[in-house]
Amino acid sequence: MKTQEIRELTLNYIKASHPSIYFYAPEEGKVMRMIDDIADELGIEYVYTYDLGNGLKIRKGEDKKVKDYSISEISSALSHLRGLKEKALVIFLGAASIFNENPDSKASKRVLKNIINEIKEEGLPLMLLFVSTALSIPEDIERETIVMDIPYPSRDEIQGAIQDFVKEHGIQIKEELKTSLLNSLTGLSDSEIDNMLHICLASDNKLNEKSINIIISQKEQIIRKGGFLEFISIKDENNKAGALKKLQDWLADKSKIFKDIGRAKEENVDMPKGVFLFGIPGCGKSLSAKITAGLFDIPLLRLDIGKIMGMYQGQSEENLRQAIKLAESISPSILWIDEIEKALSGATSGGGHEGSETSVRIFGYLLTWMQEKKEPVFVFATANNIQNIPPEFMRKGRFDEIFFIDFPERDSLKEIFDIHLNKRRKELSSQSIDKVVQQIPEQKKYTGADVEAIVVEAIQKAFINKSQVTENELIEVLKNFKPFSETHEKSLKGYYDLVKEHGITIVK
Ligand SMILES: Nc1ncnc2c1ncn2[C@@H]1O[C@H](COP(=O)(O)OP(=O)(O)OP(=O)(O)O)[C@@H](O)[C@H]1O
Ligand SMILES: [Mg+2]
Repeated sequence: MKTQEIRELTLNYIKASHPSIYFYAPEEGKVMRMIDDIADELGIEYVYTYDLGNGLKIRKGEDKKVKDYSISEISSALSHLRGLKEKALVIFLGAASIFNENPDSKASKRVLKNIINEIKEEGLPLMLLFVSTALSIPEDIERETIVMDIPYPSRDEIQGAIQDFVKEHGIQIKEELKTSLLNSLTGLSDSEIDNMLHICLASDNKLNEKSINIIISQKEQIIRKGGFLEFISIKDENNKAGALKKLQDWLADKSKIFKDIGRAKEENVDMPKGVFLFGIPGCGKSLSAKITAGLFDIPLLRLDIGKIMGMYQGQSEENLRQAIKLAESISPSILWIDEIEKALSGATSGGGHEGSETSVRIFGYLLTWMQEKKEPVFVFATANNIQNIPPEFMRKGRFDEIFFIDFPERDSLKEIFDIHLNKRRKELSSQSIDKVVQQIPEQKKYTGADVEAIVVEAIQKAFINKSQVTENELIEVLKNFKPFSETHEKSLKGYYDLVKEHGITIVK
């Protein structure tokens, strides 16, 4: 919903004296301004706020009787409100923590329910407005509460904010800078956007290319502070994968849609939903996610699903909901759910049964969202093991494609050696690398990560011996190297059984 529509709807609910509205918003400020504005428009004379830091305060109008109710006195504060005779709005700031962390929380939830009943049945002239960055409504009042999901500022709104800012400060910006500025500011709240623009202006007296870098690095930090998302914006040219041809071709194809999103929309082309990679550890699943962001030229958000499985009941879904909301706000984007099997390993503190119940809910939420999502968020899910992943997740139609990432073929090892040597600015002739690969027996399997480890060690050896790395160091390291396929021989069969069972496309 757009901000204007939300305002309209809120105004109508307040006019109709609906007892309770919950604003699920990226920041409080914008909602507060909207409520103040609506109170003025409707001529409502009393507005109160309640939060865990300040207790009950009068925001608009005069109330001599309002006391400094401490945070443990929420019930008394509510009793005071019950005595009001004039129409008043009461805003609960940080509602989720009021409900979850208040020592008086059980009793206060009951009092809230009673108040709602009195509003409905006895015409108590109050309206309860909850504002929170998290969505957590007590069951007692859920049915009577309207939820307003306030999105992050839209691209149009950000554009408006940039225009206002530029005008206000009498600065000029180049047309091409406008788009990059706009892109860099998505996923931030209104006040964060305003702060960023001020910081950029203060640092250079103008908005320029440097501003974009400042904003992106600040944004990375803001997102990381949330705890379970990492915003990866920097395209690392060093990220190259050898082998994996089938996957790379497939992704290159899909990238054409993301790179031409405007025309794709015009021609009613469905946006690619996502891809699911599962397979042998160290064969390039995570690497492929990073490469895809560069290829599609859109930001990558890495979701730490292990962390998402929070401690409190309901917390995990809340965290996931927030992650998705953010990914949508910076769309087109890639939501990379790395090591998705962690959502199944009883990762909650309770473990056992509770863990699996949370997993079911998390997967349910994810599946529904994937089915219904409208924003161009490409889901990049990766897993080592799909043994416990619910079959619905694997069903065709959720993802555009599921790939099994196998050991690279022997022919591709040369290319992978080359990539890792080049990454470290070392060059060996094609013949030298051939000689190294020839040392590997036909049936022996090496992962990309194995190859990288061999290169790293050989370069270190050469450095210690004060020489340049040659095929000799590589061959020497190779001789003593135990690849993953040997150390984990037993678990490998399981992978191939699963691939067969699910008929998954194999990528080598
Ligand atoms: N096909 C490849 N080409 C080049 N390098 C590779 C390839 N596969 C793996 N590597 C190297 O190995 C490292 C580890 O790979 P990556 O993290 O992508 O593996 P993964 O499949 O995600 O493993 P895990 O299942 O353990 O998470 C990469 O950073 C990369 O340097
Ligand atoms: Mg990985």
